[in-house]
Amino acid sequence: MEDLSNYRKSYEKSELLENAIPEDPINLFHKWFHEVKDFGGIDEVNAMTVSTIGLDGFPKSRVVLLKQYNENGFIFYTNYNSDKGRAIATNSNVCISFFWHNLERQVIIKGIAEKTTPQVSDNYFDSRPTGSKLGAIVSNQSEIIVSRVVLEQRLQQLEIDFQGKDIKRPDFWGGFLIRPIEVEFWQGRPNRLHDRIRYQLQKDQNWILNRLSP
Ligand SMILES: Cc1cc2nc3c(=O)[nH]c(=O)nc-3n(C[C@H](O)[C@H](O)[C@H](O)COP(=O)(O)O)c2cc1C
Repeated sequence: MEDLSNYRKSYEKSELLENAIPEDPINLFHKWFHEVKDFGGIDEVNAMTVSTIGLDGFPKSRVVLLKQYNENGFIFYTNYNSDKGRAIATNSNVCISFFWHNLERQVIIKGIAEKTTPQVSDNYFDSRPTGSKLGAIVSNQSEIIVSRVVLEQRLQQLEIDFQGKDIKRPDFWGGFLIRPIEVEFWQGRPNRLHDRIRYQLQKDQNWILNRLSP
């Protein structure tokens, strides 16, 4: 067994003060995303944890890659028949979060997930390298398989079948757009007096902003 109680650090890299906060959380997300990327030290700034409520009633979290974001929300791509796809089909309430250790930041977004339009999914699928396209077709994501060999054989067969042909997006694969209803920005500060700013979407589609105690 290992005791980790001495693992601690002081967070001193940045601050989040009311005088520098935009009215819309997407703008602040955009600002933070680019600051984190430019600061360096994180390979996949767009890696995020997405949590869903499963059919068994348990929350489940896993990492996916954010592929687009705009004023409507945040988009990732996956297999619609996967665990997360089935969970979202039953309960579209999800939470996504980012931990950016280089600038000691966390963003937590609650939102409602919906499938992106076929056109949006097609555009992204078409932009992927051939190997990724075939990989998406080969994998019945989240299903039990007897061995890795099965996957590799399926891939080899598809490589032959699709040689020189257009590879179309399968219906079971595509994007989810998460429309945010609440966004919290957490900035680590010294002495555990961290900055926490929470945006909540109101009925009139305006955001209200509150500072939360760390
Ligand atoms: C860095 C990283 C990026 C990933 N990106 C994706 C992704 O964009 N889409 C996806 O479906 N799975 C992605 N995965 C795999 C998921 O974490 C997960 O294993 C998979 O989606 C199956 O999850 P589920 O069975 O809960 O549906 C990624 C994993 C890691 C570690």
